[in-house]
Amino acid sequence: MKWRIFGWGIAALWVITIVIMSTFLVQGHTRPGNDGRTEIILAPSERDLVLAEMRGLLKAVHGVVTALGTPDQPLKAAEASARAAGMAMAADVNPAIMLKLPLPFKQMGMSIHKDMDHLADAIAQGESPPQILNRLSSMTARCTTCHDMYRFGTK
Ligand code: HEC
Repeated sequence: MKWRIFGWGIAALWVITIVIMSTFLVQGHTRPGNDGRTEIILAPSERDLVLAEMRGLLKAVHGVVTALGTPDQPLKAAEASARAAGMAMAADVNPAIMLKLPLPFKQMGMSIHKDMDHLADAIAQGESPPQILNRLSSMTARCTTCHDMYRFGTK
């Protein structure tokens, strides 16, 4: 009988641990921000790292748009700009930061990097400028959605 109670106790602890871990993975380390957005709490150095990545994303968008607007420039420059913000940019993100980011943030962020690689491939395959701009617009829609949802804060 005692063993049975012990067994149930272990099972309950196991379930509680799983629930806490999954809540943490979904919500990340967040609190309500005072402007209506969700504030993701990072260490100052972690925030600097993610913001540097953001500036890299903006540079990639700028590179693609500039190359598209310069007709005699080979599209190689646009391809290189998009590639620079592809999955390779996300590869070195530290796992401690990943744990603090909420799930939708991670999903949107990763989808941007994946689509930057797809964009680079599409440019290499000779897609037309309107098609390329369409791809870019589906990405900038995600930039603005995420910016409307989240902000960074430090403790
Ligand atoms: C997954 C969410 C997410 C996506 C997707 C995202 N951003 Fe951000 N970005 C943020 C957050 C959060 C901040 C910080 C905002 C704040 O604290 O007010 C930020 C800040 C920035 C900054 C300011 C950097 C600095 O040094 O202050 C730039 C520039 C930027 N993002 C560009 C982009 C561009 C361009 C894209 C799309 C190609 C993009 N971001 C996509 C979440 C995102």
